[in-house]
Formats: sequence, structure tokens, C-alpha cells
Amino acid sequence: MKRIEIENRDELSLTRAEDDEIAGLLSAAFGQNGDDDFGGRSFYKQRHHLRVLGRSDGRLIGHIAICFRVINVAGTLVPVTGLAEVATHPDHGGQGIAGQLLKHTIALLRQTQAAFVLLFGDHPVYARNGFRAVTNTLRYTKIEDSRTESVVSAPTRYLQVLPLTDQAWDDQADVDLLGHLF
Ligand SMILES: CC(C)(COP(=O)(O)OP(=O)(O)OC[C@H]1O[C@@H](n2cnc3c(N)ncnc32)[C@H](O)[C@@H]1OP(=O)(O)O)[C@@H](O)C(=O)NCCC(=O)NCCS
Repeated sequence: MKRIEIENRDELSLTRAEDDEIAGLLSAAFGQNGDDDFGGRSFYKQRHHLRVLGRSDGRLIGHIAICFRVINVAGTLVPVTGLAEVATHPDHGGQGIAGQLLKHTIALLRQTQAAFVLLFGDHPVYARNGFRAVTNTLRYTKIEDSRTESVVSAPTRYLQVLPLTDQAWDDQADVDLLGHLF
């Protein structure tokens, strides 16, 4: 396993240079899947609240973005965090970087008010760190090409959930994300 230095950065504290560094990493990581829709930005749809950055010899090689939000689960407001833009530089893939960043992120989020961590994805690293795929019907704001398109209500694909407290996730509940997908 490759050792990395991990740093948490508030979105508002990011310098232009750091933002460019994150954008470069996301382009390289998602570009390897042919999915580079970032348009040179450091975020996919919208800005986040906190960035978890992994560096080796000063170079940014791993990243997770965190959003804090309340969502509506069957009529009750529930505080959650959403993870986005999980990325490891392709030159350093398969060396446990995403796993280390995810463990650090989950430990950090256990200190917060959030009851669950949510993310959209299907990489095995998530199940290995306690996430479970769920299929709730989701209501959310659809953003495409930097434009709000519509409000969608549909059963979810690829949503994974990790409880942070003893509160269990309700598999049957209709869930309103009160915003866009993470
Ligand atoms: C997905 C991604 C972040 C993984 O990063 P990584 O640093 O290579 O991942 P890791 O080396 O930490 O591997 C994570 C774990 O998954 C396991 N794993 C990796 N590929 C696997 C596979 N095909 N099947 C089963 N397990 C697998 C590893 O053994 C590791 O387990 P461990 O933590 O118990 O050691 C990276 O490939 C990436 O940036 N991809 C492009 C962007 C992307 O798709 N992001 C995810 C969006 S949801």
C-alpha cells in the first residue's frame, strides 16, 4: 500500500492553483474511463463543502469531495453527507489510495451530525468499506450541461449508503434529495 499525506480543505479556502490541481486529477482519473465531462472544472455538477486530498511527494494523486445536506426520507429531514468525485490518478491506481481516503473520510464524518454517507457508484472499494447498494425511489433536480433541466422521480441505480449512527436506512422510503445528485 502506498503511503499518502491526507489533508482536509474547505471549499472556500481552495486557491486557484489547488482548484486547477484537482481539475487536472479529475480529468486524468475519469478520462481513463472515457468519462471526462468535467470541462476543466474541479467539480462535476456543483461545488462541494470539503475536499479530502491525498498527496505523495507533494503531488495530488487522490481526491474525495464531501457535501453536507439534509434530505427528506419519508417525510423526515435527515442530515447526510454525499461523496463525489472519488478519484485516484491512473499512475497510482490499485495501490490502496482510494481505500485510505475513504477510511479517513468515514472516520471524519463519524464526528459530524450526519446520519448517513451517500454516494453514487459501483466500485468494489465502497462495499469493502461498509457501503450497501439501495434501490429507493429518489426525487432530485436534474442538472445537465450546467443547466437545471427538471425534477426527476425514479428508482435509483448505483446509490450506496453507509450508516454513521445506529439509525438504520429505510429501504422502502421515498427519498427527496432536496437538490441534485451527489
Ligand atoms: C475507482 C478509483 C477511485 C479506485 O482507486 P484506487 O486508488 O485504484 O483504489 P484502491 O487501490 O484503493 O482499491 C480499492 C479496493 O478495491 C479493491 N478492488 C479494486 N478493483 C477491484 C475489483 N475489480 N474487484 C474487487 N476488488 C477490487 C482493491 O483490492 C482495494 O481493496 P482494499 O481497500 O481492501 O485494499 C480509481 O480507479 C479511479 O479514480 N477511477 C476513475 C474515476 C472513478 O470511476 N471514480 C469512482 C466514481 S464512483
